[in-house]
Amino acid sequence: MADISRRKDDHLDLATSGDVAFKTTTTLLECVRLLHDALPELAVDGIDTSLEIMGKRLRAPILIAGMTGGTERAERINKELATIAEERGYAFGLGSQRAMHKHPEKRHTYAVRDVAPTTLLLGNLGIVQAGQMSNDQVQDLLAAVGADALCVHLNPAMELVQDGGDRDFRGGLATLERLLGLGLKLVVKETGCGLSGHVARRVRQLGVEHVDVSGAGGTSWVAVETQRAAAERKPFGQAFWEWGIPTAASVALCAPHGFRTIFATGGISSGLEIAKAIALGATAGGIARKALQALENGRNAGALAFFDQIELELRSAMLLTGSQNLRALAQAPRLITGELRDWLALTTDH
Ligand SMILES: Cc1cc2nc3c(=O)[nH]c(=O)nc-3n(C[C@H](O)[C@H](O)[C@H](O)COP(=O)(O)O)c2cc1C
Repeated sequence: MADISRRKDDHLDLATSGDVAFKTTTTLLECVRLLHDALPELAVDGIDTSLEIMGKRLRAPILIAGMTGGTERAERINKELATIAEERGYAFGLGSQRAMHKHPEKRHTYAVRDVAPTTLLLGNLGIVQAGQMSNDQVQDLLAAVGADALCVHLNPAMELVQDGGDRDFRGGLATLERLLGLGLKLVVKETGCGLSGHVARRVRQLGVEHVDVSGAGGTSWVAVETQRAAAERKPFGQAFWEWGIPTAASVALCAPHGFRTIFATGGISSGLEIAKAIALGATAGGIARKALQALENGRNAGALAFFDQIELELRSAMLLTGSQNLRALAQAPRLITGELRDWLALTTDH
């Protein structure tokens, strides 16, 4: 247990104040320009940011993306952020439930239903760990926290850099197929390297309806594990620090495949970025590290102020594009420039 706990604490420390961001890779959302509407004929109070995801009503298209669980500190963070999700009508993701699987006595560190009874709550497992669990074990983990859906994270780059991480990624599609057979709501997610069109096509063909692109441009999990790696492995991690598909490119590459939900996570720090992601085909924006930093640096008031700002920017972007609701925002005219245009011209990713 000491090992998992130390890793979780390292992750929280590094994500709060460490050097773990991409250095040159951006989300490429700066390559999206939304067209200004000087005659919107809308009032800010009349803007409707609500939507339905997996049968649950959200008041805003925001996911507090999965981060933690397994320690006392993780328990506090989960509870505080889940409370905000409930109050504000956002979705909330738990961190990997692997620690809870190995140590059932840690279950309380993932328990948020007492503070978030109606929130869209996402459980979380790595694909390799999920592949090693029985159907009953997976279902028990979800039932124990009252999750509405399971995020299965794909993170091969991070694992390769992590000392003692997974090295064998065969059988991933078979694991997803088995989990779909249980009738679970499944979200296939990355953790900061993005999903390509090729991955999107293969999981969609299996029947996966929900993805979280978790693209490059925000937290680099290769960077996190490089910081934690033994000295002799650091050059390897540094070589892959910038690895991944930028969030905007990943959303646009996934959009044509007909998913019901696309969460645009990875480097999201403003409501304008969420608006741009939705105009590219996302359903909602996901935020991990910036939400953690707002909470840890400013306590509850800091986190609330952070989300106030996000909502203000989102509503303003909707008004300024003449979008009364999120359906209209999805159709808002937008210009794609620079490197994002190059990504979308990719003819080999399908
Ligand atoms: C402290 C921390 C812990 C995380 N742990 C998990 C995890 O257990 N499972 C998972 O799927 N993603 C995990 N993530 C990844 C996030 O869900 C997200 O995909 C990624 O950090 C990119 O978003 P960001 O740039 O907003 O941080 C974690 C992120 C952070 C910051």
